[in-house]
Parts: sequence; C-alpha cells; structure tokens
Amino acid sequence: MEVIIKQDAEKVSWEAAALFCRQLREKPDSVFGLATGSTPVRLYHLLGEMAQAGELDLSQATTFNLDEYVGLPGAHPQSYASFMREHLFAHVPVARWHVPDGMAGDIPQLCAAYEQAIREAGGIDLQLLGLGSDGHIGFNEPGSSLGSRTRLKTLTAQTVADNACYFSSPAEVPRHVVTMGVGTILEARHCLVLAFGERKAQAVAAMAEGAITAMVPASALQMHPVCTLIVDEPAAALLQRREYYRWVYENKPAWQRA
Ligand code: PGA
Repeated sequence: MEVIIKQDAEKVSWEAAALFCRQLREKPDSVFGLATGSTPVRLYHLLGEMAQAGELDLSQATTFNLDEYVGLPGAHPQSYASFMREHLFAHVPVARWHVPDGMAGDIPQLCAAYEQAIREAGGIDLQLLGLGSDGHIGFNEPGSSLGSRTRLKTLTAQTVADNACYFSSPAEVPRHVVTMGVGTILEARHCLVLAFGERKAQAVAAMAEGAITAMVPASALQMHPVCTLIVDEPAAALLQRREYYRWVYENKPAWQRA
C-alpha cells in the first residue's frame, strides 16, 4: 500500500484529482468506482472545475457507486443518487453512471445485477473510497466478510449516528443499505482511499499497519496489489511509519508521479 501524507484536506483532494486525470489520460473510457460522504466532496468539486475548464473529460467514462440507502428513492435529497447528481454529475457529464436502486423490490436480484453490470463494463479501473471511523469501506461494517459481494447490510448504531446530521432526526436514517462487498472492492484494479482529520487517525493506522481482520474491513486493502491511501496530517498522526512514507514520496521516480 502506498501511503501519501499531505498537509491538509485540500492538498489530499488535489492529489486525488491528479490520479483521476492520469487514469483518464491513460484510458478515456475508464470505469470508476465512486464514494459518497463528506470525504470526496472537495475532490468532486475540483473535477467539476477541471471539466468546466476543459481539462478533464468524463464523457466516455462509466461510474459505479459503492452503496445506497434501502428505502430512499433516488430523488430523495439524502439518497446517494441525489448526492452524486448534486456534487458531480450535474457539473461533469459522464457516459454512464450507476447507483444501486434503494427502492428495488428484490434486493438479492438487484445485487446480483449490479455485480453483473460491473463485470460487463470490464471491471472497475479506479475505485475511490472514504474510510469510516470504525474502519469500514463502502458500508461494509466491522465483521463484514473480507470476501463479501454486493448485498444488503444493516448499519451499526454508530454509523446511523454519524450520518444523522444529514437527516432531520436519527430516526429518519435508514437502517439498511445495499453496498458493494469487500471482495467486490478488492477486484478494482486500483483502490484509492482518502481520509481527513484526527477522527480518522485510528482507522487509518489500523487499516495500513494493523492486522488484516474483518473487524477493520479496510485492512483487507493490505492484500490489494495497487492501493493508494492519501491522508492529511491529523489523520496520519498514529501511523508508526509516517516518516518512511514521506521519504518514499519525496524519492519517487518521475514516472511514478501523478
Ligand atoms: P465521511 O464517511 O466521508 O463522511 O467521513 C466516510 C465513510 O463512512 O465511508
């Protein structure tokens, strides 16, 4: 896993945007896995600004979002489909985008079809991920099988509480979601995890330097051949090898840089 430490969230977002640009230069019809939550918002706005300046083109790209709340129609303001329209798709035209349908009547069938659609698109080239304060990726809460596929998950009380700020009361936060599994995520060719702030420091250290365990689903990324973790200084605070990560980054050969 490559760990990149940047001074602040703004610089993390710029570094991530550079990786998106490089991916599109190499393959204009790339397939991106996308995330929601507060972490990717600035990155999406940067991509929007770059697209409007003619510096980035997603018009041939396909996207698959990680997850969606069960029971919220795509038009609901707190659905992840609405989130994606607001922060990215309204500003950057993409060829095809996919968010799981939270209103599907047959959830197992929806999950199987989502996996099939990813396969038919040729698999995910670059998967963007936020990191939960409990070490989750997508909505794979601690205890999730590291081989799991897209499926229904019940949120932990902590995640419901974390996300309550987006709803008018905690009671309104759906208890269930559909999420890509850890196994689905591990099949992406490149995984890119972003994390900001002191609140994430423990999860960052557990993910990158702790044991591989279902109790920290993000730790499964230690088994991934191409995983980039970009964090700000507060989120890096508990990493034991942070000076080495800085050294590696400073000494990166030019061809490896985004
Ligand atoms: P956040 O959530 O980006 O809102 O911190 C990350 C996550 O829970 O995956």
